[in-house]
Parts: sequence; C-alpha cells; structure tokens
Amino acid sequence: RPYERRQRRGIALPGSLAEYVPRPVNSAGPGPAQLSFAAASTLPIAGTTAWNAIRAADVGPGSVVVLLGTGGVSIFTLQLAKAAGATVIITSSSDEKLERAKALGADHLINYRATPDWDGKVLELTDGLGADLVVETGGTATFARAINATAPGGTLFTIGFVTGAEATINLLPIIIKALKVVGNNTGSVSDLRDAIRAIGAARIDPVVDKVFSQNEAAEAYAHMAAGGLHFGKLVFGLEW
Ligand SMILES: NC(=O)c1ccc[n+]([C@@H]2O[C@H](COP(=O)([O-])OP(=O)(O)OC[C@H]3O[C@@H](n4cnc5c(N)ncnc54)[C@H](OP(=O)(O)O)[C@@H]3O)[C@@H](O)[C@H]2O)c1
Repeated sequence: RPYERRQRRGIALPGSLAEYVPRPVNSAGPGPAQLSFAAASTLPIAGTTAWNAIRAADVGPGSVVVLLGTGGVSIFTLQLAKAAGATVIITSSSDEKLERAKALGADHLINYRATPDWDGKVLELTDGLGADLVVETGGTATFARAINATAPGGTLFTIGFVTGAEATINLLPIIIKALKVVGNNTGSVSDLRDAIRAIGAARIDPVVDKVFSQNEAAEAYAHMAAGGLHFGKLVFGLEW
C-alpha cells in the first residue's frame, strides 16, 4: 500500500546502523525459522525485490530469466527463479563469480567484459526470442541492451542504477515488442511476508558474502564502493 511504501528505513526513516532502532510494529514479520539473523537481514530489500521481480513476470517452469551481475538482488532472483523452474542466464565481470552462480543453478553464464554484446548472446541462447524477464539492475550502461535482450511481451524489471540512472533509449523496440517496463521500489510489508513464505518453503539459503561488525562501517562501505568484490550480500552483524 502507498502508506507502507513511504516508510523506508534508511530512506524516509532513519537507517539501521544503530544499537537501537524504533520501528512500527506492523513492519515486522516472522523470518523463516531456518535462517540466521545475518541471512534473514537480506530479506527486506534484496529478497523482497527479487520476489517482486519473479511475480511481475509470472515466472514459472520454462520461463527465461536474465540477471545482470552477481550482486544481492541478482543472486536472490537466481535462487527464486530456479526454485520456480526457470532457465537463468546470468552475466558478470568475473568468471569465478559466474562459476559460483552456476553452483547455485544458473544455466548460462556470460562474462560481460569478455562479451560486451551480452544481449546478442542472450538472443543466441533463446533462439532469437530473448528473455521473459530481465532484471535491470545496471542502469545507464545496460538499459538499451536489456531492452534488446527482452522477449516480445516480456518484462523489463527496472530497479537499479549501478552504472548511473540516466539512459538514452530507442522507444521502438519497447513498442514493437510490447514490452512491460515495470518499475519497482523494493516492496511493501505484505510483499516481504510473501517473500519470506516463498523463501522458507523453497528452503532458499540467502548468499551472504561477508559479515562486518557494526563498528567496521567505514571498511564495509569502502568494500562495497570498490565494486566487484562481493557476490550476493554484504551484511552488518548485530554485535558492536
Ligand atoms: N528499486 C528497487 O526495488 C531496488 C531494490 C534493491 C536494489 N536496487 C538497486 O539495484 C541495484 C543492484 O542492487 P544490489 O544490491 O544487487 O547491488 P550490488 O550487490 O552492489 O551488486 C551490483 C552488481 O552489479 C554488477 N555490475 C556492475 N557493473 C555492471 C555492468 N556494467 N553490467 C552488468 N552488471 C554490472 C556487478 O556484478 P559483477 O561483480 O558480477 O560484475 C555488481 O556486483 C542497485 O542500483 C540498487 O540500488 C533497487
């Protein structure tokens, strides 16, 4: 609901890098019992966004999903897409990370440094059709290619701006292929609850690359800002 969507910790509300954080009781939901706090902390943003991507494109057996990079949202969407029976094509700057994605079930791997026209490779892998869902996390550097990689009637789930938030695009492929360009801003508390249920039922173990203590904030942000160092999520632990 719109009201829920305005109440975002770290955006409209104070963030979570604090010893005590007041928050509305209706923003909480029970986490899947099998998860640690560190793993469960990945659910409200990456997990919920990934879940909304899967739902936006009605992903199921036979769907083709394209994921850009191996960050938190992409890896969570990989796990949910595989649980839904989809074929997953994932890109990365690193062959080692691509192998890690393969171990999580990714079907096709594309190194976007070695293959800058990764969208052409997606078309080649899909008999010229493209993907039913492209989760557009890249922004400026990837948006036009993401349009090209999306199948007629497919969903371009537009969420990220890792390389910038502005893009010059050709509208014609969107019109001709009747694409669904779907924006998303994380999700509501009820989306989170649905995501938790799905993640619990599918026994998905969120990928936490590294846990920092809260007094390592500077190191943690530098690690993230360096770019390309993590696979999945970086997490702050609860201890100081
Ligand atoms: N709107 C929403 O609902 C929502 C929710 C969550 C996040 N977001 C946004 O979505 C984006 C991704 O979030 P995240 O948490 O997954 O980020 P992240 O963990 O920092 O991952 C970013 C990844 O992007 C990849 N990358 C960098 N340059 C690229 C390029 N030119 N082409 C393809 N991939 C590239 C890198 O993958 P490799 O290292 O494998 O190359 C990197 O690991 C961010 O902009 C974030 O703000 C939006």
